[in-house]
Amino acid sequence: MSHVEEVMEIIRNQTGQAPEIGLILGSGLGDLADDIEHADYIPYHSLPYFPEPTVKGHKGRFVIGRLEGKTVIAMQGRYHHYEGYSLKQVAFPVEVMKALGIRTLIVTNAAGGINLNYSPGDLMLIQDHINMLGASPLIGPNDDQIGPRFPDMSASYDPSLIELAKKEAKKYDIKVREGVYLATPGPQYETPAEIRMMRTMGADAVGMSTVPEVITARHAGLKILGISCITNMASGILDQPLSHAEVIETADLVKENFTSLVKGIVKN
Ligand code: 6GU
Repeated sequence: MSHVEEVMEIIRNQTGQAPEIGLILGSGLGDLADDIEHADYIPYHSLPYFPEPTVKGHKGRFVIGRLEGKTVIAMQGRYHHYEGYSLKQVAFPVEVMKALGIRTLIVTNAAGGINLNYSPGDLMLIQDHINMLGASPLIGPNDDQIGPRFPDMSASYDPSLIELAKKEAKKYDIKVREGVYLATPGPQYETPAEIRMMRTMGADAVGMSTVPEVITARHAGLKILGISCITNMASGILDQPLSHAEVIETADLVKENFTSLVKGIVKN
């Protein structure tokens, strides 16, 4: 039995619920999982091959239950490459969720704004990404049962889900941006020179997550929607240093809009 199948069986023995949508909740955005009804909680530390997350403010568990009439599995807390986990370890939970039956993955994160028109508190629908992690979670032998050796990455962020998200945002009178997310390994924030380079490359926002999970999800044929919460402007734009406290603070302020938007998308 593969590692994925092993974990899938353990989870199936703990919940009778069969999720159709996966949610990865980013820094400061995990409270959405508290709105999941009839929830079964599965802490990562109770599962084999799941290391203990190390960042404060990140819980580490799956929450499986009902949200807006759908059965979902949410990751309250995710793994980051900068914690020392390989990209395969970071993306492993996506394989597990896929094995549990999800068809759609909604990935969220906190990100720094590179686009000068953005402001802290903006929500950005991810239209595409730039992988500057220098590697891929798919490096190594390919499992042809899951997906092709050389997966196509065009339209990775499902255009029809982006349209749905825009429609829902309008309904709730929430302003959303649409842009390109660039992933760095971190953990340090960028230099002003790096941010100028990234802007030239076509990036609108920068963060330290999401891309490994999206590559693995795309490989596995999942439909993907990505939402970034712009928690701060990137380095060199405003005359102030960056801090993790600001990231958490801003994420907290947009929580309500973020929650309404995600719920509207899940419902429809
Ligand atoms: Cl400015 N950079 C990176 N890499 N990640 C972030 C960020 C900036 N702001 C929030 N997360």
